[in-house]
Amino acid sequence: MTLLIPIQHSTLPTVAEELHLDTTLNKAEQYRQLLPQIEALTTGEPDLTANLANTAAALHQAFGFFWVGFYLVKGDELVLGPFQGPIACTRIRRGKGVCGSSWAEARTLLVPDVEQFPGHIACSSDSKSEIVVPVLKDGQVVAVLDVDSDQLNDFDHDDQAALEQLMTLAAGWF
Ligand code: SME
Repeated sequence: MTLLIPIQHSTLPTVAEELHLDTTLNKAEQYRQLLPQIEALTTGEPDLTANLANTAAALHQAFGFFWVGFYLVKGDELVLGPFQGPIACTRIRRGKGVCGSSWAEARTLLVPDVEQFPGHIACSSDSKSEIVVPVLKDGQVVAVLDVDSDQLNDFDHDDQAALEQLMTLAAGWF
């Protein structure tokens, strides 16, 4: 089945386009189809919030994740940025939870069962597994992408590889 999701092109704000997603493809192939579309959507758009918001929306619509969004580094905390899903924790200290740990360690954290992650911050009791990918700009973490699933063990190295590639693109927006 092919899903056609209307989006707005950054440089042509009055012209609707569509996100092309072939759900018969496997996950890695779906990412390969989606990432160039996010790149096209954000290229030429200088506004950080707009690009983060459309990226969260595209990932949410493509894969139906329970929660997908960004936390931005502000001083010694992460502060909630653009996201799709239920309301979430607003501020996370460095080193706290999965997001704060990903920031402190400057690396992706794959958590198959959030209850097994010491210090996990439960913004929603429906979240069962999680992947957090840092955005690195000039060697510093400037934000993290957090993706939550309501299924256990829902993320693997295909997600990690694609989302790390996407966050390399995102670093250019900061
Ligand atoms: N679970 C995250 C907090 C953010 S919410 O899941 C949206 C954490 O432990 O850092």
